[in-house]
Amino acid sequence: MRLFAALSLPEDVRDRLVGLQAGIPGGRLVPQQNLHLTLCFFGDVTGGKVDDLHAALSTIHAEGFDLWLDGVDVFGHEKVRQVYARVRPEPALTHLHDKVGVAARRAGIVVERKRFVPHVTLARMKPTRGDDRLSRWMIAGAALLAGPIRVEGFQLYRSTLTPGGPTYSVLADYALA
Ligand code: 2AM
Repeated sequence: MRLFAALSLPEDVRDRLVGLQAGIPGGRLVPQQNLHLTLCFFGDVTGGKVDDLHAALSTIHAEGFDLWLDGVDVFGHEKVRQVYARVRPEPALTHLHDKVGVAARRAGIVVERKRFVPHVTLARMKPTRGDDRLSRWMIAGAALLAGPIRVEGFQLYRSTLTPGGPTYSVLADYALA
């Protein structure tokens, strides 16, 4: 099973992000129901490791916190490959990300040690140089401010790849303190 841990987002916030997606020039837009904030991508997890991962995630103790989406940005500044809503730096979020990584490793899952840049992906692009339309969209997107979004838990998601794009389902919910 292809698994990842993420924060789901309230519907009104997802609706706002859909409004923002409308002006993105090109790319594959993330559908409203799929918009989320990834904490940790686990890749393909097989057999008993799924149960081990669930058990390890269940033991996480971390505080709930407030989240703010603040502006937009891109990954791949030379050749844009992803467009996202930025997340205001929040130590409690980084702390939760770290704990999820530790729990996954305890379950025997190899997770990347990349720097955590919290974001909500809005669109994936065929890598291309930014153009005036994208610049104009980013100037408009700078006005995005959504929050506070209260985070009282995180979710274990399953991703199923289909020709029409991934479909996500929530396998488990983990409450924060
Ligand atoms: P992204 O939104 O930044 O692309 C499910 O695929 C989620 O896991 C996506 O939101 C994706 O984050 C994240 N993810 C992180 N690393 C990944 C990888 N190597 N392959 C696929 N998804 C990854």
